[in-house]
Amino acid sequence: MPTSPNKLAASFMPEPPMVSMIEPGKPRSERFDDIYSSSDDPMGESEHVFIAGNRLKQRWQVSPDYPRQFLIAELGFGTGLNFLLTARCWQQLKHRHPDWRHLHYVGYERFPIDKTALGEIHDAWRTSRSIICADFDSMSGQLLANWRFLLQGIHRIRLTQDITLDLVIGDAENHLAQRPLNSPAIDAWYLDGFSPRVNPELWQESLLKQMATHSDKHTSLATYSSAGRVRRGLQAVGFEVSRSDGWQHKRHMITAIYPESPNRRQRQREPQSALIVGAGLAGCFTANALSARGIRVTLIDGGVDFGAGASGIPQLSLRLRLFNEANSMAQFFLQSYLFSLRQLIQLQQDSNFEWHACGIRQLTGAMNRRKPLNFEKLAHIYGDEVFSLEQEHSLWFHHGGWVNPIQLCQALTANALNSPKFNSPIQRIEYDGANWRCLDHEDKQLGIAENLVLASPPLVDQLSLVNAAKLEFTVGTSSRISAIPGVKLNRHIETGLRSVFPEQKQTHLVSATYARSRLNRASVAEASIENITALRTMLNLSENSPIECLENFERERANPPDRLPMIGQLSEAALPEEYRRGCEHLYVNTGHGSSGLATCPLAGEIVAAQITGEDLPATSEQLELISPARFWQRQRRGQRK
Ligand SMILES: Cc1cc2nc3c(=O)[nH]c(=O)nc-3n(C[C@H](O)[C@H](O)[C@H](O)COP(=O)(O)OP(=O)(O)OC[C@H]3O[C@@H](n4cnc5c(N)ncnc54)[C@H](O)[C@@H]3O)c2cc1C
Ligand SMILES: C[S@@+](CC[C@H](N)C(=O)[O-])C[C@H]1O[C@@H](n2cnc3c(N)ncnc32)[C@H](O)[C@@H]1O
Repeated sequence: MPTSPNKLAASFMPEPPMVSMIEPGKPRSERFDDIYSSSDDPMGESEHVFIAGNRLKQRWQVSPDYPRQFLIAELGFGTGLNFLLTARCWQQLKHRHPDWRHLHYVGYERFPIDKTALGEIHDAWRTSRSIICADFDSMSGQLLANWRFLLQGIHRIRLTQDITLDLVIGDAENHLAQRPLNSPAIDAWYLDGFSPRVNPELWQESLLKQMATHSDKHTSLATYSSAGRVRRGLQAVGFEVSRSDGWQHKRHMITAIYPESPNRRQRQREPQSALIVGAGLAGCFTANALSARGIRVTLIDGGVDFGAGASGIPQLSLRLRLFNEANSMAQFFLQSYLFSLRQLIQLQQDSNFEWHACGIRQLTGAMNRRKPLNFEKLAHIYGDEVFSLEQEHSLWFHHGGWVNPIQLCQALTANALNSPKFNSPIQRIEYDGANWRCLDHEDKQLGIAENLVLASPPLVDQLSLVNAAKLEFTVGTSSRISAIPGVKLNRHIETGLRSVFPEQKQTHLVSATYARSRLNRASVAEASIENITALRTMLNLSENSPIECLENFERERANPPDRLPMIGQLSEAALPEEYRRGCEHLYVNTGHGSSGLATCPLAGEIVAAQITGEDLPATSEQLELISPARFWQRQRRGQRK
C-alpha cells in the first residue's frame, strides 16, 4: 500500500511504482494490487472514457471565446497512454478551430514507472497494433526521450510547437494544493487513479475540493469509475454529474461539468505585445518564451551588442544549487536546473551555439563553507541520477556542462520578431494608460508595448522599482589563459577555488573572482593574479610555473540579499506610487546571482506564462520565494509586529 502523502518530502526521490507485467504492454502495480488498464483494448477504452467523455473533438471544433490554450489535467499519468492518444487526437483533428492555440497537458504522477519498463510497454503497444500511427509513435519516442530526471516537482516539457506537457511528480493532492489560486481553470479533468477501493487518496473529498477550486464553467471531467462514492463526492464539491455508458463490459462511467461560478476569476485574454529591457540570458529567454507563444516582442539593450552584462562571460557552467533539506527553495533550484538542461538539449537540435555536456566535478573548495553540505543528506535527497558523490567528497554532475552565453542569446533571439535593439540605454519608464513606454535620458521613446519586463539589474536598481528590494552587485573577473606547458587539464569542468573550463583553441577559462562590493573590488590586473594563484593551488603547481593570462572579462553579478532571484509580476502595494498605474502589466526577471544559466530559462518561462495567463511551472510557495514583492511584504510584516 502507498505510504501516506508527506507534506514536505524529506527527499526528492519519487517512490517506486513496483510494476510487474501481466503480459507485454500490460503493467500491473504490486503496490496497489491493481492493473493499469482492465480492458483488452486499453486504447479504445482511453478514447471512449477520456476523449469522448470530455467531448474533446466537439469542443476543439468550436471557437473558444478568444484564442487560448486548452488545459487538461490527468490524475494518474501512469504509462502516458491517455496523453499520447489525446495528443494524437489534437494533431489529427481535421477541423480544429485555429483559436485553440496550444494543448497544455498536466500529468500528475506519484510513482513514475522506470524508463526501461516504460520503454517495454510502449514497444509492446507498437508491435501489437495492426495499424501504423506515425504521430503516436513519434510522440511516444519524445516522451521516452524526456523520461528522465523525474525527481519530485514540476517538469515542463515543450514537446512540439503546440503541445506542452507538465509532468508533476509527487502526490496529486499535495501538488494541487500548491497550484497558485490565480491559475487558469482546468478545461478537462481525467480521473484515472487505480480503483477507489485500493487507491482512495486519488478520489477523496479533499482532493475533489481542490479540483473544484480549479474549475469553471468551461470545465468537464471524465473517469472510468462509476462508484457511488465518487459520484457523491463530486456532487458534494459542486460538479454536475452524469452517468454515461461505460466501455465494453463496463455498464457505466462518470462524466461531469462544473457550473457557472461568480467567484471564479475571468480568464485572461491573449496579450499582443511585450517590451523587454536587457538582452542578457534573463531577457533573451523571456523573449524566446514569449515569441513561442506568438507575442510580439521588442527587446532593448543599452550595450553595443550581446554580452554587455554578466552574460558576456564567454563560458558559463550549468550549476545546481544544493541544499541539505528537501524544501521548496531546493526544489525551485532543482526544477530550474533540470528545465535548463532540457532546454539546452532541445535548443541545440534546432540552432547553433556551443553547449558542451562535458560533465562538472565540484570539489569541496567550491562549496558553501558557511553551511557545509552534508553528503549523506544529499544522497538521500537527490539520489544519483543528476549527480553522484565521489570518494574524495567531490560531486560529479554527469550531465553538467558549459555554454557560450553570447551565442546562446543570439540563438534565442534569431527569430526576426525579437531581435534586439542595441545602443538603447533606458533612463525612465512610464505607463500611458494602455502601454508601457521606455525613454532615454533625453526623454526619447525607445520602445512601447502593452507589457514591460525589466531584465536588466542596473535599471531595476536605478529606478528603485520595488519597495524595500535592494540588489547587491558583486564584481567578478574571469581570465583566459594559454595552455600550460607540460600540464594536461581535464576535459570536464573542474570547480574548486575556481572553475577551470576544458581547452578551447589551446586556451582555458579560469572563472572567477568575487568582490563583495563595487567599492572594494580589485583592479582587473589584480583579479587576474588572484585567478592564476588559485589555479596554481588547485593544480598543485609551484609559484614559478609559467601561466600566461591572455584576456580578462570583468562583469557584475546581481544578487538580492536573500540570494534568490526576483521573478514575476509586480503587485501594486510593493511599488512606489509612480509605477502603480499599469502594475498588472509590469514584470521583473532579475537577480540571478552566480547561477543565471540554471535559473534564467525557467524564469523566462514563468514570466511568459504569467503574461499570457497560463498554468505556471512553479508552486505557490516557490512563487512566493521568488516574488519581487517579498521584501516589501517582509518589511510590512515586521512593522506590524
Ligand atoms: C565572472 C562571472 C562568472 C559567472 N559564471 C557563471 C557560471 O559559470 N554559471 C552561471 O550560471 N552563472 C555565472 N555567472 C552569473 C551569470 O553570468 C548571470 O547570472 C547571468 O548572466 C545574468 O543574466 P541577466 O540577463 O540577468 O543579466 P545581464 O547578463 O547582466 O544582462 C543585463 C542586460 O541589461 C542591459 N542594461 C543594463 N542597464 C540598461 C539600461 N539602463 N537600459 C537598457 N539595457 C540595460 C545590459 O547591457 C545587459 O546586456 C557569472 C557571473 C560573473 C560575473
Ligand atoms: C490506473 S493508473 C493510470 C493509468 C494511466 N492514466 C495510463 O494512461 O497509463 C493509476 C496511476 O495513478 C498513480 N497514482 C496513485 N496514487 C497517486 C497519487 N496520490 N498521486 C498521483 N498519482 C497517483 C499511480 O502510480 C498510477 O500510475
